[in-house]
Parts: sequence; structure tokens; C-alpha cells
Amino acid sequence: MVRIENLTKEYRKLRAVDDLSLTIEEGDAFGFIGPNGAGKTTTIRVLATLLAPTSGEAYIDSVSVTKEPAKVRNLVGYMPDFFGVYDDVKAWEYLDFFAAAHRVPAARRKRVIEDVLELTDLTGKRDAFVDDLSRGMKQRLCLAKTLLHDPKVLLLDEPASGLDPRARIELRELLKELRKMGKTIFISSHILPELAEFCNRIGILEQGKLVVSGPVHEIAAKVRTRNALEIGVCSDAQEAVQVCLKHPSVRTAEVTDGRIVVEFIGEKEQVPDFLLAILQQGVKVTSLVESEMDLEDVFLQVTKGVVS
Ligand SMILES: Nc1ncnc2c1ncn2[C@@H]1O[C@H](COP(=O)(O)OP(=O)(O)O)[C@@H](O)[C@H]1O
Ligand SMILES: [Mg+2]
Repeated sequence: MVRIENLTKEYRKLRAVDDLSLTIEEGDAFGFIGPNGAGKTTTIRVLATLLAPTSGEAYIDSVSVTKEPAKVRNLVGYMPDFFGVYDDVKAWEYLDFFAAAHRVPAARRKRVIEDVLELTDLTGKRDAFVDDLSRGMKQRLCLAKTLLHDPKVLLLDEPASGLDPRARIELRELLKELRKMGKTIFISSHILPELAEFCNRIGILEQGKLVVSGPVHEIAAKVRTRNALEIGVCSDAQEAVQVCLKHPSVRTAEVTDGRIVVEFIGEKEQVPDFLLAILQQGVKVTSLVESEMDLEDVFLQVTKGVVS
């Protein structure tokens, strides 16, 4: 449904998106994750036909964003990261304006607006001024706007940013609803756990490059094979770190909160040998725990690699 091929976007000397390739199937909820400045907005704006790529191509439902932008605009609903403030505009007027822009026939517009207001739980706010809505409601209204022309693909740029926990949950429920309706959802965030639960696939972007992408559980499993061990000692911790680092299955070791955290790259079966080895070298081990990495750790691990 979304295909990005060797996409590059340069702003003068800065390469914001660097040879990015990515495919998203129909019905996927794809989480596009990366720190600020990674190139998420740039990529999404190219998909929304608002920005021309320097090189490469992108297709929405096999339609080229550079060759047939008008057609693509009918296929996508784009929610920008920044919601413009409109004075003196009521919620329904805001939607009516965009429905007209999308050429929804006047006779159908009222019905469509009622439908999207209901879907986003804003029926009670149809006559409220946009400016008076809470941040969460504004976000939902913006989402309602993207649904007016019943697009197949939703491009949502950090929709949850700045929302309180309750508004986040409401947004997530709404997105789940849209997914059930068969929409393909491309959603960005700089916070991985925020998307992990909702998305079936994620991609992590850093400095314009895709560091890793795939099904959420596969990515988590991939990183988890590099297990972390937490070792408690009652002998000198720094000495213990030095001993650990000498072991061939240890990639990194450091003292964190009084414990030694070891990144263990060997198999699980090699852990006892490792333990024996450090005991024999005088490390007084009081505890050893395997710590499972959660998705936040995955994100840190994967991105740390590129920065350093
Ligand atoms: N219009 C622009 N002109 C010049 N540089 C830009 C412009 N837009 C974005 N950038 C730069 O491109 C990089 C990627 O930005 P962006 O796509 O907004 O990242 P993200 O959405 O992941 O935070 C950043 O270094 C940013 O400063
Ligand atoms: Mg952005």
C-alpha cells in the first residue's frame, strides 16, 4: 500500500532522508520511530505529496507521488505534526472547508461531517470554536479532517505529542477503530513504547537512514538475543567489570546502580561457564539475573549503534 524506493531528500547540504526503502502492506499499522531530526516529517511530507524528493520514488497503492500527486492526495489522509490555529472557526466549519477542498459534493458534505464527528467522538463539539477545544480534541478534529474523503492510507505525524495520558488512550482507541475499518496507518513518534502496542510493524529511523524495520515481535527478539545480565557482587565492582570484559562472550560491562550490567553475546547455555570463570577470578557474585529488554531498550540499543 505504501512503497518507498531509495528515497533521498536533501535540504541544501543536509541529507534529511538518506536512501530510504520501505514497504507497508494494506491494513498494516506501521510505526515510524526516530529521535527528533531523524527525517520522519520529511518522509511523511514526501508521501503526502507536499515535498518533492531529491531522488528516489514513493508509491501509494502503486500510484507515484511525484508523477500523479493529485491522485495520491485522494488516497491519503495527512495529519501534520503542527495543527494550525484557526480563530473564529467552528469545528463543523473547519471540516466543511476541508470537505469542500477535497471536492466532497455539497449534498453529501453534511452527512460526511456528521460521520467523522461521531467517529472521533466530537459530535457534541460541532458548534464549538476550534480554538477553544482541548489539545486532545484538536488532535481528534485534525484526524476527523483526514478522514473526510475516506482515504485508504493515513499519514499521521506524531499525533500523540503533547497529549495527556487520557487523551493518548482515547487517540489509541480511535486508531484501533480505524484499523478495524481497514485503513493502512503510517504513524510517527519519537517515543517507541507509545507505538509498540498499537503497531504490527515498526521501523526505526536515525539520521535519515532506516536502522531496523520489521514486525514488532521480530525486532524485539532480534535484539533480545544479545542478552543483558545483571550481576550483584560484594567484592569491588570496578574490578569485577574488568574481569567480565575479559570474557569472550561479553561485549560491554558497566556498573549501574551498584550492579554490573553485562551485555552478553553468547548463548544462554554459556552463562554458567561465564559465571564459573568470573568466580574463579575472585569476583564474589551474590546474584545473577537475566534482564529482558523491553522495546525502549531496543530503541536505545539500535540507535546507540549508529550514533557512536
Ligand atoms: N525546510 C527545511 N529546510 C532545511 N532543513 C530542514 C527543513 N526541514 C527539516 N530540515 C532538517 O532535516 C532534518 C530532518 O527533519 P525532520 O524531517 O523534521 O525530522 P523529524 O520529523 O524526524 O524530527 C533535521 O535535521 C531538520 O533540521
Ligand atoms: Mg517531525
